Amino acid sequence: MPRVSVSDVSKVFGPDTVALDSVSLEIESGEFVVVLGPSGAGKSTLLRILNALTDPTTGTVSIGGNPVSESREAVGMVFQMHYLIESMSAYRNALTGALGRTDDIRSVLTLNSRDDKKAALRALRTVGLLKQAEQRASSMSGGQKQRVGIARALVQNPSLLLADEPVSSLDPKAARDVMRYLKQAAEERDLTTIASLHQVNIAREFGERFIGIRDGRVVFDGSREELSMDIVDTLYYGEDNSQSPNRDSQPVPEVSDAWARIRLTIFSAVSSERRWFGELCFW
Ligand SMILES: Nc1ncnc2c1ncn2[C@@H]1O[C@H](COP(=O)(O)OP(=O)(O)O)[C@@H](O)[C@H]1O
Ligand SMILES: [Mg+2]
Repeated sequence: MPRVSVSDVSKVFGPDTVALDSVSLEIESGEFVVVLGPSGAGKSTLLRILNALTDPTTGTVSIGGNPVSESREAVGMVFQMHYLIESMSAYRNALTGALGRTDDIRSVLTLNSRDDKKAALRALRTVGLLKQAEQRASSMSGGQKQRVGIARALVQNPSLLLADEPVSSLDPKAARDVMRYLKQAAEERDLTTIASLHQVNIAREFGERFIGIRDGRVVFDGSREELSMDIVDTLYYGEDNSQSPNRDSQPVPEVSDAWARIRLTIFSAVSSERRWFGELCFW
């Protein structure tokens, strides 16, 4: 179904906060797209518009040729904060993904069809949590919870999967695990996926196509090979990227000298607002 078309979309909050500024994009069926950009760039706003959680101020968005408002059920969303019901098992949480197609009485009585139950178990298998199906969400790690969040989105049987910073609250190992399962789920089901991330190295590891957003504008749209360090600098520091820590350490990605690595690590620890930079040390 998806050919996601975003055409000249702008979003203005209040009198003058321009969250998106004339964004146009085409995403084909089966693509795995990573949206990159600093905090406040407009990533969440873009994903929320694609999920009809908010309307664009101007411009149009369509999924498979239909307006987003008519495609809501075709769009699954994984949130930064997983929003699981902590007292319920992984299986029960995954099953809530089927609520959209369960009528009110059945959902109050938590009666689900056989197909929904199978879908929940299959989704848990996809994210490697079949054995933990009966485990309460409250006793799971952050990474496992986020994988249950992915399973819940899969149970919805979407044709477009959106993930808004799905790994930003996780440590690097758990973040990689979650991204691996997300990618695997997309491949297994031929799911068009758009994930926003701010960790550049994780983005490069898993993304196939990258869309860079800065100040609400698309400043880059290309492949991993095209996503050079200069482009990353411009994305995070703007045209005048003389302040970028990367200026002194060209060429990246190879930082082979141990001392340079230590310096970079200290720098990244000191510059807390540039958290993503710490990740670059390990490119
Ligand atoms: N509901 C809202 N009301 C007012 N301003 C908002 C709202 N949502 C986002 N913004 C503003 O829009 C801009 C883009 O935000 P957002 O899409 O959340 O960026 P990102 O996800 O890349 O951090 C920011 O300046 C943010 O403060
Ligand atoms: Mg955001």
